Amino acid sequence: MADQLILSSPLLDYVRDFSLREDDVLRELREETAELPGGSALQIDPEEGQFLALLVRMTGAADVLELGTYTGYSALCMARALPADGHLVTCDITDRWPSIGVPYWKRAGVADRVEQRVEDAAAVLGELLAERGPASFDLVFIDADKVNYPRYYEQSLELVRPGGLIVVDNTLFFGQVADPAFTDANTEGVRALNALLRDDERVEVSMLTIADGVTLARRKGA
Ligand SMILES: C[S@@+](CC[C@H](N)C(=O)[O-])C[C@H]1O[C@@H](n2cnc3c(N)ncnc32)[C@H](O)[C@@H]1O
Repeated sequence: MADQLILSSPLLDYVRDFSLREDDVLRELREETAELPGGSALQIDPEEGQFLALLVRMTGAADVLELGTYTGYSALCMARALPADGHLVTCDITDRWPSIGVPYWKRAGVADRVEQRVEDAAAVLGELLAERGPASFDLVFIDADKVNYPRYYEQSLELVRPGGLIVVDNTLFFGQVADPAFTDANTEGVRALNALLRDDERVEVSMLTIADGVTLARRKGA
């Protein structure tokens, strides 16, 4: 078995040259986002966006929930991959960043598929459970604050249907999860979720070493 590749900058350029199909709408949103104080560090990489879109299509997801909208790049990737009658709920604690994405969603012709909520993610998860009931989503993408990852995961597991998918971003958290020198609340939040997922018999799991680490958890039972 070969060791994992260390993805050097030239190799990442190669991956992008040979697989990335980012169009003008996505590229322009990414470039506008890169100008912000948090910039591209908060946004998913374009190849991860393409992967998310593929996941939505492969799973046939029609009801998708996103925690952590930021400027709406990942929301745009997933909304475009939905069927015409599909629906994406995306939430963020502030409207400051999501409002940047709205014109791009409109330009891409998917704004009518996106329901934006400006509220704390845990509150949104609770509301959706009350409004729609358990097992009412096909796919949940968790990408909000890392401290609350274990809580978001537990709530998402109630909301996703058996056979549905929970996708968690940043599960390697810049490599800090494997470095005991990092004991900050964000790193600990991601570590706690990773430990929970490792032993959780309710899901099938794969931790992917793409981007900043992306974990797929498929709810068993379908
Ligand atoms: C990593 S960014 C999301 C990036 C986005 N998914 C993308 O790729 O374009 C995290 C977002 O979570 C939001 N956030 C932080 N705490 C939150 C909370 N408690 N509830 C909901 N959103 C929160 C932040 O405002 C930020 O926009």
